[in-house]
Amino acid sequence: AGDRISRITSAIRVIPDFPKPGILFQDITTLLLDPVAFKDTIDLFVERYKDKDISVVAGVEARGFIFGPPIALALGAKFVPMRKPKKLPGPVISEEYTLEYGTDKIEMHVGAVEAGDRALVIDDLIATGGTLCAAISLLERVGSHVVECACVIELPELKGRDRLGDKPLFVLVSSS
Ligand code: PRP
Ligand code: MG
Repeated sequence: AGDRISRITSAIRVIPDFPKPGILFQDITTLLLDPVAFKDTIDLFVERYKDKDISVVAGVEARGFIFGPPIALALGAKFVPMRKPKKLPGPVISEEYTLEYGTDKIEMHVGAVEAGDRALVIDDLIATGGTLCAAISLLERVGSHVVECACVIELPELKGRDRLGDKPLFVLVSSS
C-alpha cells in the first residue's frame, strides 16, 4: 500500500493561509484530479471494510459526500448524508458541535439509520474531531453501532483522535 499512499499524499495540495492566516489548508480537490490516486483512496477504504459487515456508510457534508458514496457502493451498504442544518426535507435528528469560534450542527433523516445497523463514518479530514463526534453521536442515538470512522487526512496536532475517545479512527495520511 506504500506507493499508493505516497501517490495520494502527493496529490493533496497544501495551501497556506486559507481560509485564515496561519492555517495550512489540505485541499483534496487536486486528489480528485488524479483518477489513479482517487481510486486508490477508495480502494484502500474498501479493502479495509469489505469483510466488516458494514450496513451503512454515513458521510458528512460537504467533503464526506465525495468519498462516502463510492465506498458505500463497493461495500453494498446504504449511504446516508449528514447535512448542515435546514437542508433535509424530512424529519431529522440533529447534533450540535463546537468549532474554534461558536457552534455548528449536522442533521440526519429519521429512519435512514436503524438500531442494528453497523455504521462506517467517512469524512475527508479530522482536525479537532468535533464533526466526527457529532456524527458518532447521531448514529448512536438511533441505536446503530459505529464500527469505525475513516478519513483521508488527520491533523494530529489538533488531537481529534483523543476527542473520539474509544471510537476507532483510521486515516490514510497524517499531516503535520
Ligand atoms: C472540514 C472538514 C471536516 C471538518 C473537520 O469541514 O471537511 O468535515 O472540517 O474539522 P473538525 O475535526 O475540527 O470538526 P468544514 O466544516 O470546513 O466544511 P465542508 O466539508 O463543508 O467544506
Ligand atoms: Mg467537512
